[in-house]
Amino acid sequence: MGLLLTTTFFGGMWLQVQSLVKNHPVSPGLNHPPIVTITTPENHSNFQPGQQVLYSIEVVDFEDGDSRYGEILPNEVFMEVWFFSSEQEMVNSESQTNSRVDTMGLQIIKESGCFNCHNSKTAFVGPPFYKIAKKYLQHDIDKLVSSVLEGSSENWTNAIMPAQVYLTEPEARQAVQWILANGGNDNSTIYPGINGFFPTRPEATNGVYVLKASYTDHGVEENQQSRLSGNDRVVVYAK
Ligand code: HEC
Repeated sequence: MGLLLTTTFFGGMWLQVQSLVKNHPVSPGLNHPPIVTITTPENHSNFQPGQQVLYSIEVVDFEDGDSRYGEILPNEVFMEVWFFSSEQEMVNSESQTNSRVDTMGLQIIKESGCFNCHNSKTAFVGPPFYKIAKKYLQHDIDKLVSSVLEGSSENWTNAIMPAQVYLTEPEARQAVQWILANGGNDNSTIYPGINGFFPTRPEATNGVYVLKASYTDHGVEENQQSRLSGNDRVVVYAK
């Protein structure tokens, strides 16, 4: 019945709804999956190398609301931009991973407000994930997990990271593991927000940029187990 309502409500989006439900590990219960759409840029648009790309994302969720009416919290919507130096490189890379589904560590980071203080590449309240990944090695993981769980200051600046008390130890470990393994990747950047822009590289004259937008809803009555994610993907070229 729940699913039937969704399909009526979203008209032609039956296939998308179905696959979202199937891909998600938790039982959807009565919750409806969010529909995430990258409205700009259009799939397969072309840009000049070095040009900025403006993007915007729309989220419609049966329970949480509609981003066009300000009902979706912008800092819970994410755009992940991947750079590839050629189309072949993109195909090779994406055939090796299921790039549609976030790893658990990234999911935890997106859902725990880490991006309220951290950016991928640029300093904000806290250091960028990029610099954390470059500064520390795998064997520092215990220290970093304690920093997250107990809070931290003076390792970077005198700004304070409050103890992230709502995370369990294994969750904090998965989040830190994701930062150490992926934060230092030059070719991927994650931006919070429903719109923004990213630069293309002036020197890359055959560049392919994969844009992946995502939103995880609040489930039914804030029941964590019933939360569902939606995503959309667009590819643009700068050549
Ligand atoms: C309220 C702002 C804020 C939030 C929210 C926040 N951080 Fe931080 N984070 C900081 C600041 C500030 C620092 C630098 C602290 C220092 O200098 O020791 C930091 C540092 C870190 C470090 C490096 C710690 C070290 O010992 O060098 C890691 C790893 C980290 N944050 C991960 C996370 C994760 C994961 C989350 C989400 C669960 C998160 N942060 C949420 C502000 C924040």
